[in-house]
Amino acid sequence: MQIIKTIEELQIFKNNNFGKSIGFIPTMGALHLGHLSLIDNAISNNDVVIVSIFVNPTQFGANEDFDIYPRMEEKDIELCRSISVDAIFMPSVDTLYPSGIDDEVILLPPNKMASVFEGAIRENHFSGVLRVVLKLFNLINPTNAYFGKKDAQQLLIIKKMVNDLFINTNIIPCDIIRDKNNLALSSRNTYLDHASYEMALKIPNAIQAAISLVMANVLESKQIENAAMECLSGLEIDYCNVVDFNLEKIDQVKKDSSLLIIAARVGKVRLIDNCWF
Ligand code: PAF
Repeated sequence: MQIIKTIEELQIFKNNNFGKSIGFIPTMGALHLGHLSLIDNAISNNDVVIVSIFVNPTQFGANEDFDIYPRMEEKDIELCRSISVDAIFMPSVDTLYPSGIDDEVILLPPNKMASVFEGAIRENHFSGVLRVVLKLFNLINPTNAYFGKKDAQQLLIIKKMVNDLFINTNIIPCDIIRDKNNLALSSRNTYLDHASYEMALKIPNAIQAAISLVMANVLESKQIENAAMECLSGLEIDYCNVVDFNLEKIDQVKKDSSLLIIAARVGKVRLIDNCWF
């Protein structure tokens, strides 16, 4: 497995693999089983697989957890090596933002999709995500790029960028991976102590309540949201809504084109989860 830090090294790797399909998994490290399932999917369907590890400063707000975001490079490298990833791209901030993060061309995310939910709470978050993902796509030029459905809004906005800008990469959505108690895996779960972990389980319970209703053909959004919010009682709910793939609130679940999205705070830890109907 090659560890690539510079754009020149990345170019050499790409030249050496010219003509092969490239599966790409962009990450911010602190890899868990959710990332591993993205990587597995990429390994099964591409000639070569590149994982990027880069804690992207432009997608964190001033009061967010950029400085303390879990960084475990050695462990991540060993994990990737053990499952035969071909290359890890670990650039520095200066490598990806050579003009400095405050003085370069910025891509604006679609206003309607990016100003709601995560975008309403995390100002400029999606602009930062699109900036870094577009840079990585331009550098790597992947055939297929793998994203978890857990970050539903991110996934839908990246899909839109790829469509709107005619980017030649297939976006492959991958299922949410949950732990034995159904909590969606996230690098931020490492912030949960025992008591807050137990509280956090209200979130997958809310998801399960929503799924049960939809399976029983209860499709009214209000009913689904109320049932989910009842399960979340005791947590500080940022949002709990049924939306379509444009992130617009809808009155009724439509099969294969809607989802329930939840963000809630357990003490200081903010978690998101969702289910796609
Ligand atoms: O989902 C993430 O980990 C990040 O937002 C991503 C896509 C790697 C961009 O920094």
